Amino acid sequence: MRLRRDEPIEVKTPAQLAIMREAGLVTAAALRAAAAAVEPGISTAELDFIAEREIRAAGATPSFKGYHGYPASICTSVNEQVVHGIPGPGQVLTAGDVISIDCGAIVAGWHGDAAVTVAVGDGGRPASAELAGLLSACETALWHGLSRAVPGGRLTDISHAVERAARAAGPYGIVRDYTGHGIGTAMHNYGRAGRGPVLTEGMALAIEPMLVLGDAETEVLADDWTVITRDGSWAAHFEHTVAITADGPWVLTAEDGGQANLAALRRGGRVWQATTVGGSSTSASTGS
Ligand code: MF3
Ligand code: CO
Repeated sequence: MRLRRDEPIEVKTPAQLAIMREAGLVTAAALRAAAAAVEPGISTAELDFIAEREIRAAGATPSFKGYHGYPASICTSVNEQVVHGIPGPGQVLTAGDVISIDCGAIVAGWHGDAAVTVAVGDGGRPASAELAGLLSACETALWHGLSRAVPGGRLTDISHAVERAARAAGPYGIVRDYTGHGIGTAMHNYGRAGRGPVLTEGMALAIEPMLVLGDAETEVLADDWTVITRDGSWAAHFEHTVAITADGPWVLTAEDGGQANLAALRRGGRVWQATTVGGSSTSASTGS
């Protein structure tokens, strides 16, 4: 969704953040289950079913369903689709595709929101070095942004960190229209973009960079949701919900709170597919 520029970002108490952590973990589990089910021949309607079952089994509610009329519990954006793709029985995955899955859950009124892009087939290995680079660049850029979610920083420090990391990774298009949002009792609780507010303890943000192989210009399909690249180039989208705490960024939608990937960044490494398909790995590694 686009940034609106009026309401302040909510400040949460520690008790409220604890509930947001629960929402974050439910979101992470549902996203992991859906991503683990990605394989050639599966439809995105089936992935939606899997994610929604996981969310409801945890006693939570899918936050996307019914949001401004959105009909599903996840967004599934395949190849040149950037974000907000709608799952359906006719959207069937093929080996070599990439799919971004975006998921949100509500626990006791508090929201979690996260997204990951994975490759279809071949054990989740992207079909080309170009695609592998795109996914790695987007996820790494996200973690650079998350690392700046600290008290006293500015919202713009986060966006600059994302942009700098994306540029350093390669000549990717950086999608400008959809970038992130405050989050709490509403999925979208904005705060001013531009120079941006000073970040304080108790704020929570969803940070969601989207990178494309070509030009960053997008358009929305006739379904009024699906965002695609104008030039047809393929896209990646990674998102986490992060709380700003005195101890640093608390990545509410990462099982380990973000510890491994934030430590990998501090060591100067890249984050490489921290959210591995099949749920076999949650750890980050440093690489070239
Ligand atoms: N992560 C997405 C966003 O912030 C989730 C919204 S999908 C919607 O834009 F369908 F619920 F709108
Ligand atoms: Co979001």
